[in-house]
Amino acid sequence: MTPLGVGLMSKYKNTLFDLSGEIAVVTGGMGQLGAQFSLVLMDAGAKVAILDITDKTLNNRLRKAIDSEEIMLIKADITDKNEVKDVAEKIKRELGIPTILVNNAALDSPPNASAEENGPFESYPEESWDKVLDVNLKGVFLMSQVFGGEMAKKGKGSIINISSVYGMVSPNQRIYEYRHRGDKKFYKPVAYSVSKSGIYNFTRYLATYWAKKNVRVNTLTLGGVFNNQDNQFLENYCGIVPKGRMAKEDEYNGAVLFLASIASEYMTGSNLVIDGGWTII
Ligand SMILES: NC(=O)c1ccc[n+]([C@@H]2O[C@H](COP(=O)([O-])OP(=O)(O)OC[C@H]3O[C@@H](n4cnc5c(N)ncnc54)[C@H](O)[C@@H]3O)[C@@H](O)[C@H]2O)c1
Repeated sequence: MTPLGVGLMSKYKNTLFDLSGEIAVVTGGMGQLGAQFSLVLMDAGAKVAILDITDKTLNNRLRKAIDSEEIMLIKADITDKNEVKDVAEKIKRELGIPTILVNNAALDSPPNASAEENGPFESYPEESWDKVLDVNLKGVFLMSQVFGGEMAKKGKGSIINISSVYGMVSPNQRIYEYRHRGDKKFYKPVAYSVSKSGIYNFTRYLATYWAKKNVRVNTLTLGGVFNNQDNQFLENYCGIVPKGRMAKEDEYNGAVLFLASIASEYMTGSNLVIDGGWTII
């Protein structure tokens, strides 16, 4: 390596992904991936606040970070504008104005999913459609309106909207066929896919809207993450995805850090896809 190269490397090592002095908000931070995203942002030097409807997490390191007040947890529902505004005020008072927002919270199937939830499209419940779109799109809209608005005023920000391969392409229903039981069919439902598709143009809209305000808005599209799924599902999924396996839960952290930091300074309105090759075939 040339001396110039060495110089650049050490400069980048110190600054390119450094988030010291930044304040980050992660929605759904108590979940499997939100916990990872919160911790990687903290590790890079940001002060992190999590918004979640639950205070429970399976991530021990996150639990410790919350208990020791290294990460702030605020219980709030992102579909409630008044709650979102109250949370924004609290974070502003206690930490400052956030410059990073990870719109990560989402519902796949609502927790109290009825049998119809995964049944035929023709009888997919209207209330499930409403609930999923409420969290996955309206929640993203409200969070961006309140927090992004503050970023625009400040003239600095990075918003990362989390999408899914199921928003880029249709779910492959063949991998769920093993769950059919006679006449009782099992389908990956429609609302999640539609909500995750909506993220793409929401990102593009805001990226152009706030481009001159120095607020960058990007989508991070993820493939399936290993989470102790049953063997048949794993066999079916892994048999299709070119990498031959599901993602490990920490394999998106580099992308979040990249999108949050000046490493991606010229990137806005884009879709960064990390999916083991799912969408290329
Ligand atoms: N896990 C995967 O395989 C996968 C694949 C592709 C994309 N994604 C996306 O990654 C993101 C995180 O997924 P995950 O697997 O960690 O999900 P998860 O279910 O583990 O976590 C989601 C979190 O969002 C919170 N939440 C739900 N509704 C909320 C609301 N109204 N207000 C505030 N918080 C709320 C939940 O309490 C939970 O902690 C989602 O956007 C998901 O669509 C996940």
